[in-house]
Amino acid sequence: MEFKEPRGNFDRQLFFDLLKTEQKYHYLQFSPHIFESLSSTNQTLWELINQGEKPGCVVIAMQQSAGRGQWGRQWSSPLGGLYLSLAIPTLGYTSIPQLKATDSYQLTLASAWGIAAQLQKHGVTVKIKWPNDLVLNGYKLGGILTETKVNQGQITQAIIGVGINWANSVPETGINLKMWQKSQNLSCISSLEMLTSTVLLGIESGIQCLNQEGIGVVLSYYLDLLVNVGDQVYFNNLLCTVVGVTNQGELRLKKAVYDTEETETKEIVTQPGTISLGYG
Ligand code: BTN
Repeated sequence: MEFKEPRGNFDRQLFFDLLKTEQKYHYLQFSPHIFESLSSTNQTLWELINQGEKPGCVVIAMQQSAGRGQWGRQWSSPLGGLYLSLAIPTLGYTSIPQLKATDSYQLTLASAWGIAAQLQKHGVTVKIKWPNDLVLNGYKLGGILTETKVNQGQITQAIIGVGINWANSVPETGINLKMWQKSQNLSCISSLEMLTSTVLLGIESGIQCLNQEGIGVVLSYYLDLLVNVGDQVYFNNLLCTVVGVTNQGELRLKKAVYDTEETETKEIVTQPGTISLGYG
C-alpha cells in the first residue's frame, strides 16, 4: 500500500510520544498507519486486515474523499478534522467474549462512552446523543461508525471508525473542538495529535470495559452521559418519552400520554436508524 507522509503539520513523533506516555493499560498494541489522504480510513483498514494486519492496527488520514457515515450517509472529511479507524480484538483472541452479530451496537456504545469519558478527563464537556454521536453544547462534535464481519451469527472482525471536528468547517448542527476551546478560554486538547491519542485511548478503555465488565456496566456509564433521557419524541404518531437504551443499542420509549383505563404504559423499543432525535 502506498504510504504518503502527511504534508500538513501532523507531528508523528509527538503523536507517538503522547500515545506512549498516556497509555496505562496496554490492552491493545497500537500500530498506526498515517496517510495524507484516503477515500475512507475504514475502507483502508479492511484492506490492511485482509493483508494480515492484527487488532490494534490504526489508520489515520488527514482528509478523506469518501468518508462513510451512519446509514450509508457520506461523512464530509476536509483537512483539519480527525479521521481514524481502529481494528479491535474479536473472536479467537484470549479472554475476549464472543459477540453475536445482533450485539454489534455494543461496540459502538462502548466506544462512544470510552471516547467521551477520555475527553472529559481533559476538561471537554462532551456528551453522547443516541446512538453514536458525540455532542458538545448541543452540537455534533463527532460520530462513530462500527463495521463488522460476521460468520454464522458471530462477529469475527470489527473496526471502529471515528470522525471528530477539530479545526475543520462544520455544518449548522456541528461544532469544532478548536473553536469551542477558544470560546471557553481553554486549551485542554492542545493539538490534533493529542486528540488522536485521546480518542484511541478512549476506544481502548471502552472496549476493555465491554470485554471485562460486560454490557451492563458499559450501558450504565453510557446512560450517564446520554443527553436524550427524558426527551419527548413522536414515534408512529405517538408522543413518547425517551427512558433509556437496551443492551442491543435500541432506544427505549414510553408513551407520554395514555388513557386512564391503562394501568401500565407499555415500553416501545426502536432500532438505531429508525428515528432521528435531531439537533437544536
Ligand atoms: C456518523 O455518521 O455519525 C459516523 C461518522 C463516522 C466517520 C468516520 S471518519 C473515520 C472513519 N472512516 C470513515 O469512512 N468513516 C469513519
